Amino acid sequence: MATRGETGEQAAAADRGRFITLEGGEGAGKSTQAQRLAGHLRERGLEALVTREPGGSPKAEAIRELILSGVVAPLGAAAEALMFSAARIDHLDAAIRPALARGAWVVCDRFADSTRAYQGALGNLDPRFIRELERVTVGPDRPDLTVMIDVPAATGLARAAQRRGGAPDRFEAEGLAFHEALRRTFLDIAADEPARCVVVNGEASPDEVERQIWAAVQERLPLPGSGPQPKPVVRDAQRRKEQGAAHPKGDERRKSGDRRKSASSPARASREKSAP
Ligand code: TYD
Repeated sequence: MATRGETGEQAAAADRGRFITLEGGEGAGKSTQAQRLAGHLRERGLEALVTREPGGSPKAEAIRELILSGVVAPLGAAAEALMFSAARIDHLDAAIRPALARGAWVVCDRFADSTRAYQGALGNLDPRFIRELERVTVGPDRPDLTVMIDVPAATGLARAAQRRGGAPDRFEAEGLAFHEALRRTFLDIAADEPARCVVVNGEASPDEVERQIWAAVQERLPLPGSGPQPKPVVRDAQRRKEQGAAHPKGDERRKSGDRRKSASSPARASREKSAP
């Protein structure tokens, strides 16, 4: 409800929920952690919607079936990126935006960073195409916080195989080199956008990963009733820079081998450890 001096728009923005995405390779533990995070939020009396991509709405789930069956793969990475984006448009319209508007916190297992990584970087698509696609699909509804759960590709694939039991899906069937590159891409995204992203070590126990994620949420997103928590100046400056260029030249910098320091030092340490 608007207070004196507050415009309707400001009041609506203040009452809006928060949008948290979990990203990472196969078997990183995202679904488990999404449920645990929602549990913490509900304990604080917040409405939490746990959802996933591809999927999260009836039409998007139908598109998911198609993509994961592998029928789109022969059409190329651009076709896949468009299919994931079509699913995302419906997911945002039918589930995410209405939830945020009524004040719910949305915890989404994968989102646009997966398209950047799987189709963009690994599908060798022009970064400008991916950026534009993200801009028209997601618009201003970018996540408030993205948690990258980082595990070595071999560990994640072994976990995914154990969980699944049967035949691998479209992406699980890719080789180890693909999944190693995927891991590096997620870490690059986090390094490019430290104001939005935090990296947690997914090799830790599920309880420890849960603790790290909850600590990051409390640090980065003020919970209602926890009082004002001004962000450090350096973060605001970084956020403004990011808003000016949604995903600034990540690929160019990767090619040139120039890597900026990430704010998330434990993850950077783990990346440097795993670097060849
Ligand atoms: P899923 O069974 O949900 O895998 P996971 O448990 O690892 O999230 O399958 C989703 C697959 O789709 C996963 O391999 C990642 C891939 N994907 C993309 O390639 N692009 C995207 O934009 C998204 C959201 C997912």
